Amino acid sequence: MRPVALLIAAACLAASLVPSAEAQAKPTQAVQYVESRKIWLLTTEHSSYAMGLNAGGQLEHLYWGGPLWRVEDLEAAAARQDISSFDPRQMLQNEEFPGWGGPRYFEPALKITRADGDRDLVLRYKSYRIAKNDLEITMKDIRDDVEVTLHYRVYPEFGIIRRSATIRNATAQPITVESAQSATWYMPPGDGYRLSYLSGRWAAETQLNREPVHEGMKVLESRLGHTGHNLNPWFAIDSGDADEEHGRVWFGALAWSGNWRITVEQTPYRQIRVTGGFNTFDFSYPLKPGESLETPAFYAGFAANGFGQASRLLHDVERADIEPHRLEARVRPVLYNSWEATEFNVDEAGQKALADRAARIGVELFVMDDGWFGKRNNDHAGLGDWVVNRQKFPNGLNPLIEYVNHLGMDFGLWVEPEMVNPDSDLYRGHPDWVMNFPGRPRSELRNQLVLNLAREDVKEYIFQVLDKLASDYHIRYFKWDMNRTFAEPGWPHHAAAEQRELWSKYVWNLYDIMGRLRARHPNLEIESCSGGGGRVDLGVLPYVDEFWTSDNTEAFDRLRIQEGFSQAYAAKFMSAWVTDVPNMNGRSTPLKYRFLVAMQGALGIGANLNKWSDDDAKLAAQMITLDKRIRNTVQFGNLYRLLSPRTNDTTANQYVSIDGKQAVLFAFRHSQEYNTPPPAIYVQGLDTRAVYRLESIDGKLMDKQAELSGAYLMEHGLNLSLRGDFDSTAVLLDRVR
Ligand code: GLA
Repeated sequence: MRPVALLIAAACLAASLVPSAEAQAKPTQAVQYVESRKIWLLTTEHSSYAMGLNAGGQLEHLYWGGPLWRVEDLEAAAARQDISSFDPRQMLQNEEFPGWGGPRYFEPALKITRADGDRDLVLRYKSYRIAKNDLEITMKDIRDDVEVTLHYRVYPEFGIIRRSATIRNATAQPITVESAQSATWYMPPGDGYRLSYLSGRWAAETQLNREPVHEGMKVLESRLGHTGHNLNPWFAIDSGDADEEHGRVWFGALAWSGNWRITVEQTPYRQIRVTGGFNTFDFSYPLKPGESLETPAFYAGFAANGFGQASRLLHDVERADIEPHRLEARVRPVLYNSWEATEFNVDEAGQKALADRAARIGVELFVMDDGWFGKRNNDHAGLGDWVVNRQKFPNGLNPLIEYVNHLGMDFGLWVEPEMVNPDSDLYRGHPDWVMNFPGRPRSELRNQLVLNLAREDVKEYIFQVLDKLASDYHIRYFKWDMNRTFAEPGWPHHAAAEQRELWSKYVWNLYDIMGRLRARHPNLEIESCSGGGGRVDLGVLPYVDEFWTSDNTEAFDRLRIQEGFSQAYAAKFMSAWVTDVPNMNGRSTPLKYRFLVAMQGALGIGANLNKWSDDDAKLAAQMITLDKRIRNTVQFGNLYRLLSPRTNDTTANQYVSIDGKQAVLFAFRHSQEYNTPPPAIYVQGLDTRAVYRLESIDGKLMDKQAELSGAYLMEHGLNLSLRGDFDSTAVLLDRVR
C-alpha cells in the first residue's frame, strides 16, 4: 500500500519572494544563489555546502565537502519516490531543517504542539536573504504561520559555517515548542564512518573516543543544567580512515552551556545525520502569538586533511570570531592560583607571602581562590555572602590587591555566583531563590544549592554583587566557578506551562550577566570553571578568556585531558597549572615535566610556593622565561598533535606561529621499556625550503646540527634522548631564511 502523496503547497514558492535577478556564480562569493536551479552554495577555502529547493518547495541538503567552484556541477534538488509504504520518500530526502510532521521518523529539527493539540508541522520554503557572508532562509508550515528562519554565517578562511534557527509563532494561537534544534548536518551517503567525541567525569574530562557509526542513534548530551564533565558538545565524523593529517573529517561544536544534545544517526538508507541544539529532555518552551525562540549556534566545518586540520580550523574561528577580544586579545598571562596551596585558609599575610614568591618567578596574574568571603572556612557555609571575611582580611581586600599590583601583577578573585550554601545569610533571607519544587527535597551537592538564575530578581542580584566587586576593587580577573549539577529544577510561583523555560533562561541570564559585566568593566577577564572542565563550550566563550580545564592537575593525566580538549578548543583558552607532587594517582613527575605539560596551554602555577626549594624556584623562573618566549606561538599558532598519549609511550605536540617564523616541539616519555629509544618525531607545518635554527632547552636533542631545513625536519624527523620514566624536553625552531 502506498501512502497518498501529501498535498504540496506550491503557493509557498511565491515568485515574488524570490529575487528576480539570478546571482552570478562567482567563486569568490561566500554565499551564492542560482535561481535556475534554486541552489544556494556556501563556499570557503576548505569546503563547500549546498542546499536546493525541490519541486515541492522543500529545502534539501545537497552537498557538504571539499570546495566546489562550478555551481553548474550541482543538480537541482529532485523529489524522491517512496520505496515502499514502509520507506516513504520523506525518509530519503535530506531536509535541511525537518519539522516533525508527515511520515518522518528520524530525529526532527523542530517539534511543536498547537493549542488544540495539533502537532503536525511540515515546513516549506518562503524566502531568503543574502548579506555578505550571511544567508537567511525562512520557511513556514504548509498551513499556518509557524515560521523558521535558518541563519548561516560563512567563515570563508576557516572552512566553518555557523548555523542557528529562529522559531516564530506568527499565528494567533499559542504553541509549545518541544524540540528546537540548531541544525541538522548530513554527510555523504555511505558506510564505514567513525564518530569521535569527548567524554569523561570530574577530574577526567575530555577523553577522546573514536568508534564506528552503525545504524541507529547515538546520543551525546547534558541533562545536568551545565555543559557537563561527562560529554562535551563537540563531534567529528570521519570517512573511517582519517588520521591527524589525512582523511575527510566533518566536525562541529555546539555553542550552549546548558542542557544540550547532539544525536548521530545512521538511517537504513546509509545516511548519516547529526542533529544538535537544546536537549529535548524536559524541554517545553511556550510561544505566545508573536513570540520567537532562538536556538544556540552550531559551528561546523569540513577538513580534507584529517583531525589536525579540523582542530586548527576550529581554533582559528574561536580566536578570530568567538572569544571576547577576538584578534585584539592579549596573550594569556602567567597565572598563580592559591587554591591547592591554601584551600580555604586564605588571609592577608599568607596571600602576600605567596604573592612575593609568585612575583619573583615571573607570575603576571595572582588569583586568590575560594575562602575570602562570608563564613567560608570550609565548603559547608558562606556561598551567597559575597562580603569580605573580616577575620581573614581585617582591612578588606585593598591592602592585598595593592600589594599584588605593587609587585607588578594583576589581581584575580574566585567567585561562585550561581550557588548558595543553606548556611548563608542569602539563603536565610531568600530560601525561595533556589530552584526547587515546593514540598520536595532540595538535594544538596557539596553542601550547596543552585540559585534560580532564570528569575530576573536573582539575575539582577548576582549582577549587582559582581559589578560592586569589580567597581570597589582593582580586579582584573574573576575565576567564575560553578560547583554542582542541577536537581529539582522547579520554579515555584511561575506559570506551570512556563516552568521548563528555566533550563534555557538560566543560561541566557548567565550570558547576560557576564556580557554586562564585561561591558561595564572593559579590562575585566573571566575564567569559566565548573569544578574543572564542566563549562567548556563555545556558548560561554564570547564572555570568557580561559577555561579551567580540569581539577586534575596531575601532569601525565593532563596529557590525555589536553589532547581531548585540543580537538575542539584552542590552547589559548586551556588553563593549565603546575602543581605539587605527589598528585592525583599518587604520582610524582619531575617539575620540568609538569612545566612543559602546562606550557602547552595558558600557563598557571597552583603549587604551594612556600614549600618550593630554591632550586625549584630557579627552575620555575627559567621555565616561565621560556614560556614568555614561546607563548605567542602556542596560544595563537597552529597545533600539530604528532604522537598521542593514547597510543604511544611518547607524546609529542608541536605549535607553529601564524607567521611561520617560530615552531615549538614538546615531547614527553612516560615509561621507557627494554632500553628502547623513542620514535623519530616528524615535525609538521614548516616550509620545506626554509632553514630553521634549532634550540634544545636541555641538550636532549640528538641531532646536533645548529640549522636544518624544513624538508629535513619534516622528512627525516628529529631524534630525542628521552629515557626512563616521565622524561620530557622541548625544542625551539626559529626560521632563519
Ligand atoms: C572547584 C574548582 C577549584 C577550586 C575549588 C574551590 O573545585 O575547580 O579549582 O576553585 O572549586 O572551592
